[in-house]
Formats: sequence, structure tokens, C-alpha cells
Amino acid sequence: MNHQAEPAGHPAAAPVGRTMPVDGDVLVDGGLLVSGEVLLTEWAAGPPAEAVRPDREAGDARQAHRMAEAFRNAMARFPTGVAIVTTVDEHDTPHGLTVSSFCSVSLDPPLVLVCLARSARCFPVFARTGDFAVSVLRPRHAELALRFADSTAEKFGRGGFARTSRGGVVVDDALATVECRVDRRHPAGDHVILVGEVVGQPLADTGTPAVYFDRRFAAISPAP
Ligand SMILES: Cc1cc2nc3c(=O)[nH]c(=O)nc-3n(C[C@H](O)[C@H](O)[C@H](O)COP(=O)(O)O)c2cc1C
Repeated sequence: MNHQAEPAGHPAAAPVGRTMPVDGDVLVDGGLLVSGEVLLTEWAAGPPAEAVRPDREAGDARQAHRMAEAFRNAMARFPTGVAIVTTVDEHDTPHGLTVSSFCSVSLDPPLVLVCLARSARCFPVFARTGDFAVSVLRPRHAELALRFADSTAEKFGRGGFARTSRGGVVVDDALATVECRVDRRHPAGDHVILVGEVVGQPLADTGTPAVYFDRRFAAISPAP
């Protein structure tokens, strides 16, 4: 736990213009971390409302940043598989991105979901597509996963993809593939949850999956 994120004290009650010894570190207004001695200024006594606003906004922004970091760190402790989600636009051009948010939702009917960032370049295509495909990656696909996580990369140019009979695009040596018809879209903060009904025959090969854990690619070995 990062205790620096918690305001540890506030010297507002002490007289302005004096120094006050501090036991350990404290966060004063706006999140400035100080230790030893705090010079008490008019800020400590409470600035006029209009003067505190920019400082408080900066403090709020820092607090939000710390919260986001803590959230990312906690979620990084949760291992996931890695998949590439693809779709094809009106011009039959493929689009795709790397995801870890792929999971099954329902068996009857067979539903899966992926969470897509609204900020992704390919998001507008996924926002209007009726179909998408998911390829579950193997440990040797780490470079491919990084390429599909790079908005500036030429993603499909180097080959290694196959067209399905339904017109979808999948990684040709994926560990597993599913093709989906979009069932519904749920707005979720800065992402959209894309729910797909599995259509056609899902494919599953033997082998182990790529794993993403603590912001790194990893592999699992089968239990002895
Ligand atoms: C292991 C890994 C998992 C990711 N999971 C997701 C995810 O679930 N959803 C998402 O929107 N972006 C995810 N990303 C980030 C996108 O792959 C990346 O931002 C991608 O470049 C966005 O698409 P774009 O290239 O069209 O902008 C992940 C990236 C990595 C490396």
C-alpha cells in the first residue's frame, strides 16, 4: 500500500508565518510532500477560496493519477491470456488489436466478450462492425502481440493470417480461434464491452497459451 497517497496531516491550525516541526512526511495542501519542518504560510491558514482552486485542482489531478497507478498495479497482478481481435471493414480491409480482456460469458447461447478502448484507432471500425474474430496467442506470438498493441504499426503486412470461410481474419497458427456475430455493445467508462455470439466452429489446437502478467509476457508449463 502506498501510504504517501494518504494525506498524513495538515498544519492549518498552527500560526501563519512560523515553522512547525513535522514528525515524518506530511502531505500539505495540493499534495506537496515535505518532511522535517513545514513553513506555515497563508496557505496553511487557509487561502481565499478563489486562490485555492488551481492548487486543489492540481492536487485532485495528482490524487487521480495515484489512484490510476494503484489500479493498474493491482490489475497487473491478475494473469490473463493474450488474444488478437480482428474485424474487416466495408472495403474488406482487416483491422485488429491485442487484448487481454477476452473471456467467455455464456454457454447457451455461446457468448464471449472483449473490452475495447474508445481511444483505439481501430475502435470506429469495431463500433460499427457486425462480426469479429478472436485468435488466442501462443508464447511465440509475443512480437505479434506487441505489433498489434502499437497504433502506428503496419499490422497485417507481414502475413501470418488466414481468411476464414466466413470472411474473417485469424492468426493462422493461433492456439484457438472463435468467430462472433456482435450480440450487443455496452458502454463502460472509456471502453466499450463488445459481446459476441460465437458462430461457426470454434477451433482449438494443442499447446500452451501466451500469458500476460505484471506487464510482461510469460508462458505456463503444464502441471507435471
Ligand atoms: C497484453 C496486452 C493486452 C491489451 N489488452 C487490451 C484490451 O483488452 N483492450 C484494449 O482496448 N486494449 C488493449 N491493449 C492495448 C491495445 O492493444 C493497443 O492500445 C492497440 O494499439 C489499440 O489499437 P490501435 O492500434 O487500433 O490503436 C492491450 C495491449 C497489450 C500489450
